[in-house]
Amino acid sequence: MSCTSLNIVILAAGKGTRMYSERPKVLHILAGKTLLKHVLDTATKLSPNQTLVVYGYGGKQVPDSVNDPELMWVEQTEQLGTGHAVMKAAPKLAEENATLVLYGDVPLISSKTLSKLVAISEGDKLGVLTINLPNPEGYGRIVRNNQNQVIRIVEHKDATDNERKIQEINTGIVVIPSTYLSRWMGLMTNNNSQKEYYLTDIIEMAANDHVEIVTCEPEYEWEVLGVNSKVQLANLERVYQNHTAQKLLEQGVTLSDPARIDIRGELNCGKDVIIDINCIFEGNVTLGNNVSVGANTIIRDSTIEASTYIEPFSLIDHAVVGGHSRIGPYARLRPGTVLQSEVHIGNFVEIKNSTIDSESKINHLSYIGDCTMGKKVNIGAGTITCNYDGVNKSRTVIGDGAFIGSDSQLIAPVTIAKGATIGAGSTISKDAPEDELTLSRAKQITVSGWKRPTKKAK
Ligand code: UD1
Ligand code: CA
Repeated sequence: MSCTSLNIVILAAGKGTRMYSERPKVLHILAGKTLLKHVLDTATKLSPNQTLVVYGYGGKQVPDSVNDPELMWVEQTEQLGTGHAVMKAAPKLAEENATLVLYGDVPLISSKTLSKLVAISEGDKLGVLTINLPNPEGYGRIVRNNQNQVIRIVEHKDATDNERKIQEINTGIVVIPSTYLSRWMGLMTNNNSQKEYYLTDIIEMAANDHVEIVTCEPEYEWEVLGVNSKVQLANLERVYQNHTAQKLLEQGVTLSDPARIDIRGELNCGKDVIIDINCIFEGNVTLGNNVSVGANTIIRDSTIEASTYIEPFSLIDHAVVGGHSRIGPYARLRPGTVLQSEVHIGNFVEIKNSTIDSESKINHLSYIGDCTMGKKVNIGAGTITCNYDGVNKSRTVIGDGAFIGSDSQLIAPVTIAKGATIGAGSTISKDAPEDELTLSRAKQITVSGWKRPTKKAK
């Protein structure tokens, strides 16, 4: 849904004392991105008119962590409370729009839940996202009258014993109607046990102004869980990973163990994909139909085309792997690797910034960097492209059907023409012609009568 008439304010000024870290709390990482980025990405899905982040602890570090010229930032140098934070933002907010308040340390809130809250708040209502918790300790409680209307929110520290029995709590996420934002901000005080400006005081103001107060609950409880410690961060990471794994299973992906996969970004899978245990996917990864990923593999910002088999312990980073290929075990594909179909990359092979055409094979112990390789090339074990002279990087070009004997060094820039054969153990520094055998090897000799040294008895 689109909310072009919505302002979003994200409160992100807190230090996060219980994280025991120099880093501002909202810059801690969950599933590969900062807590703040999770909230920003969710906010973007609502297509708001404007998004404003209130930052404080850590100063410029927080705005510097995000590269989005559309975002607005307001500094709150002293953290005097959630109400104070919104007061700081209020003068910059478009007056004709309702304002949705989110927390930078509540990373898993879903756009679906937020859309629901925004929708029920339409028509100048005050919307509060609430939830019933068996253990509401520490949270602000939702106080209702005998007609079940919300009349105020009382913070745990200010609540009476009776109020503390209320299990419906304030998640902190609210929609403030446009007409009342500046009025209510002006009425805010800090007369409470924490000497803070409580945003929650606007509930009572709304009741006094006869503004209708509406509430709804999130789809999942974990959407409203905050991060205050590394324990909570680790718990939310597992919640996120478990939820993501369930979604993959529901789409038909086979996971050997849904508890042993981590997705730090977007993983798009075709049909009949199989993923073995302990795999990590980072950034944007696409796996085509029938792709199989072996255990302990890491794939980052890469595409693996249909029916390719990745053997265990491989690392694939910013690469494209064509269909019907076999990669690994223990293969490393570095950025700029583009493999066409039916390519075989075996164990302890490293490839960087190279294009390798179909049906070529590099099966054992090789380094291929800055190389353009044709079709049906066979690279023998231990082959190295010497692409770097200490200053410059140079390319190696290998034509279709070439055969490079084991333990050869190809000193770039160099071209191995199509159909050429390089004898094993050669150091090739000049171009090798088409369809010929080229080698650079000392002649083998036998020293007759030579004896191995023997140990002399002392
Ligand atoms: C707040 C709510 C409480 C609710 C709870 C849900 C108030 C007064 N209380 O309490 O009803 O149950 O959240 O978790 O609103 N922040 C700033 N500037 C400030 C103060 C806070 O940016 O001056 C940010 C924090 O970084 C944090 C968020 O606002 O992301 C919430 O602040 P926090 O102090 O954790 O609120 P609670 O006391 O937990
Ligand atoms: Ca507080």
